[in-house]
Amino acid sequence: MTITVRRASVHDAAAYTRIMGDPAVFPGLMQLPYTSEEIWRTRLTEAGAPGKTDLLLVAERTGTVVGTAGLHPAGNSLRRRHALMLGISVLPEAQGQGVGSALMAALCDYADNWVGVLRLELDVYTDNTRALALYRKFGFTIEGTHHGYALRDGQYVSSHSMARFHPKPPRIAEP
Ligand SMILES: CC(C)(COP(=O)(O)OP(=O)(O)OC[C@H]1O[C@@H](n2cnc3c(N)ncnc32)[C@H](O)[C@@H]1OP(=O)(O)O)[C@@H](O)C(=O)NCCC(=O)NCCS
Repeated sequence: MTITVRRASVHDAAAYTRIMGDPAVFPGLMQLPYTSEEIWRTRLTEAGAPGKTDLLLVAERTGTVVGTAGLHPAGNSLRRRHALMLGISVLPEAQGQGVGSALMAALCDYADNWVGVLRLELDVYTDNTRALALYRKFGFTIEGTHHGYALRDGQYVSSHSMARFHPKPPRIAEP
């Protein structure tokens, strides 16, 4: 089945709500229960405001959004402009079918070839084996482990910090 990746818009608020509100998805993220379309409409509008550098992508199959992914500033400091933070989520019924890989390929291409980012960062719970496999496939390595990093359904869970460096940073040719 063809997977199409495109930039998200405010019109995708319902799709974001469906994915981020899924009880098999949000516990693996830093999202909270009881999300709403209003919340996502606001977030998508803010992310697309002038001056914002966030990239929000969605993956579609036969016209339906089945996955979302994004790159976000890693902080406010100008000295961290070479780094972006990555997030990704796929509907449970579409997982294991290449949607995550299509989104990761698009994010890496954008970071490497269009905005000259050198370092992609993410945090992943240590028991999220599918996500760890996806990130390793795209060259991420574990840099450290945070113990008791976040509360997930009544239990403190640990997470790995992972990063991927630009495989071939471009240089300006001598004139
Ligand atoms: C993690 C997630 C984004 C992966 O997306 P996906 O669409 O399932 O990924 P893909 O189908 O492209 O599979 C990617 C790789 O994962 C691995 N994988 C696939 N199914 C797997 C499984 N059941 N168990 C372990 N690894 C698996 C494979 O290595 C696969 O690559 P390959 O098919 O080339 O061998 C998705 O499972 C998800 O949204 N999970 C819930 C939210 C979440 O945890 N997000 C990440 C937060 S850090």
